[in-house]
Amino acid sequence: MLTPVIMAGGSGSRLWPLSRQLHPKQFLPLTGKLTMLQETLQRLAALEHSAPLLIGNEEHRFLIAEQLRQQGFHDARIMLEPEGRNTAPAIALAALQAMAEEPEALLLVLAADHLIQDVHAFHSSVIQAQALAKQGHLVTFGVVPTHPETGYGYIQRGETQGDYGYRVHRFVEKPDRDTAVSYLATGDYYWNSGMFLFQAKSYLEELERFQPAMVEACRAALAGANQDLDFIRLDAEAFKACPEDSIDYAVMERTERASVVPLDAGWSDIGSWSALWEVSKRDEQGNACHGDVLMEDSSDLFIHADHRLVATIGVENLVVVETKDAVLVAHKGRVQEVKRIVERLKSEG
Ligand code: GDD
Ligand code: MG
Repeated sequence: MLTPVIMAGGSGSRLWPLSRQLHPKQFLPLTGKLTMLQETLQRLAALEHSAPLLIGNEEHRFLIAEQLRQQGFHDARIMLEPEGRNTAPAIALAALQAMAEEPEALLLVLAADHLIQDVHAFHSSVIQAQALAKQGHLVTFGVVPTHPETGYGYIQRGETQGDYGYRVHRFVEKPDRDTAVSYLATGDYYWNSGMFLFQAKSYLEELERFQPAMVEACRAALAGANQDLDFIRLDAEAFKACPEDSIDYAVMERTERASVVPLDAGWSDIGSWSALWEVSKRDEQGNACHGDVLMEDSSDLFIHADHRLVATIGVENLVVVETKDAVLVAHKGRVQEVKRIVERLKSEG
């Protein structure tokens, strides 16, 4: 049986000012009525699985617990990090926890902030990936790329493996634009969807080879953990000593045990305002609006109005996000740089 592991500790800073440190995007309803985390939980419904493991930041514990409760996930366990160390340690902690209960545990690792429009197709890929994962492979789910996105990992497929997958010939995390363009031209690269299926022990074996200090710190953080009610609070001192890295750099770029199973499920990482615009309902002029908005002669806008009326005249390709205490106006082609505003706000107070 699968153990879903949901990573919910990211900061979502490119979706500022809606996404905030105390309330990042995975806890917001960005694409429907449910929050991104709740959509992720809902998607598990038709899969046979044991109680999910959530792993996120200490300061979001009540948000996580409340959103789980609303979805009826009373048996989920919530692991709390005192500070994020990126995804490689987060998954290691979940793997150690799952293995303590079930040595052969099979983990379905999911991000808490993805949109998947075709849930059946997602389920098929997960089911197809299980045989390879049980043989000890680290399975990624590959999405056919549509543009040279630099915010994703790229997977070059090798020979076929099993009935549905391929060996990963090469995994390159977040290449530069020219490299991404050259990958697209070959036709044998996928985007890494950032979801994985593997046995907890396979992942830990590989991590142990490449980042032994990380595994050691995670073991210590869990050994000293404090369990109360639903929460597993890691030993803060032990975890703070853990090196920081993502699963993509720490393991997937280096392992020889990676496989890829294609995923054609209307997948999208809602990583930026333009990504949200892409998947939103738009009018004939290409405008996607939420809230009270009036437009004259305007096109290809993304407007989110929380508290006030937003009106535009004669503009195109803009993102306008109005909240109670901050308003963002940005060119739609430069929304990746919203991160820089968040960094300035942090450093300039
Ligand atoms: N618990 C925990 N702790 N979760 C974390 C942490 C952490 O320190 N850092 C990030 N996460 C969570 C995020 O909330 C998100 O759900 C998921 O892990 C992935 O992290 P991102 O920071 O969003 O990664 P990314 O989008 O830059 O890149 C990854 O995803 C892409 C697809 O969306 C990589 O796997 C890429 O290769 C991939 O293409
Ligand atoms: Mg992401």
